[in-house]
Amino acid sequence: MPKLSVSDVDCAGKRVLVRVDFNVPIEDGVITDDTRIERALPTINLLLEAGATVTLCSHLGRPKGEVVPDESLAPVATRLDEMVDAEVIMAPDCIGDDVTALRANLRADQVLMLENTRFHPGEKSNDPGFARALAGDAELFVDDAFGSTHRAHASTVGVTEHIDVCVAGLLVREELEKLQPCREASGEGFVVILGGAKVEDKIDAIRRLLPRAEKLIIGGAMAWAFFKARDMEIGTSLCKKKSLEAAEEIIATMGKYLDRMVLPVDVHMVQKEPDTGEMKFAAADAIEPGWDALDIGPETQALFGAAVRDAQIVFWNGPMGFFEKRPFDEGTRALALALAETDAYTVVGGGDSAAAIAQMGFEDEMSHVSTGGGASIEFVQGDALPGVDALDDK
Ligand code: 3PG
Repeated sequence: MPKLSVSDVDCAGKRVLVRVDFNVPIEDGVITDDTRIERALPTINLLLEAGATVTLCSHLGRPKGEVVPDESLAPVATRLDEMVDAEVIMAPDCIGDDVTALRANLRADQVLMLENTRFHPGEKSNDPGFARALAGDAELFVDDAFGSTHRAHASTVGVTEHIDVCVAGLLVREELEKLQPCREASGEGFVVILGGAKVEDKIDAIRRLLPRAEKLIIGGAMAWAFFKARDMEIGTSLCKKKSLEAAEEIIATMGKYLDRMVLPVDVHMVQKEPDTGEMKFAAADAIEPGWDALDIGPETQALFGAAVRDAQIVFWNGPMGFFEKRPFDEGTRALALALAETDAYTVVGGGDSAAAIAQMGFEDEMSHVSTGGGASIEFVQGDALPGVDALDDK
């Protein structure tokens, strides 16, 4: 780890700004998964124990530079208050006179949670004035928002221009260390599994990882785009134009490596036209018009499971099917089980895959479950993370 971390510096009595990634799922004001809050606690507690005054900042959702009440961090502050041994104060904004006053009067037995940084357009545009205001009077900046380290925003990069000492938090340090074997892996034994709906979101990952992996497994609706690109019938299965174009581009440009790509051999589908709700399994090349593939089938579960069993390093990001709706979570669950049972070094990133692991109680069976979706993929595919690059070198 070439960057300084919070345990390398003196935090005692310091005014500290901590960037956390509290972009957690919230439904009707209720947090449905607080993993990201929990994983930031070691850094927050270390700072509190050192007698630092702790101000937290984070984004939530994608409010496009405007105040969106449903994307307030207030429910997060309430939840955090139950998890730390300090009073958590919710600020009305992340910059401005009221916030400056709250920060100036903050005690070491309190934590100040700033409001969503993305309520200001300067966050995403990395505006220097906004970054300076957000930095405030902090003497130390701690970036513990691993899930946002791939974003060059004011709260991840801009603030580092205005705070003397900028270091990684314990979560960022742990994530980088645990993901490093996947970033370095190549050749025999390296198995990458990508799922989810959008090929276009993972096109860079496919381009970069296909030449390095022994096998690159594609599941979820991404697979239907590859079927369609090969002129196979996919019925009414989800396949947006952008995904199809991305799949066609991969097939056209990655010819030399395409035999490393492993696609589903069967699917679990439901009849949509007419909408009878009838479900059945079918071979991948036997999807019928009017039918909607929503998950991988049992033969594919066995095929993907065998690849995981024989692997040395597995990196998995994205569900194998319509994970939210039973029984179409079965493919994702079968894969989670295969990862739990293999002797390989296993890393899981991304909301749905991590949720599957958590729901099945398999977290302790994984070598690492990342709190980052996009950040973990970008790091593993070999990209620099601007939020890490901006921190002080050791
Ligand atoms: C995530 O959930 O992956 C991070 O919080 C980053 O969110 P973003 O994709 O909206 O920048």
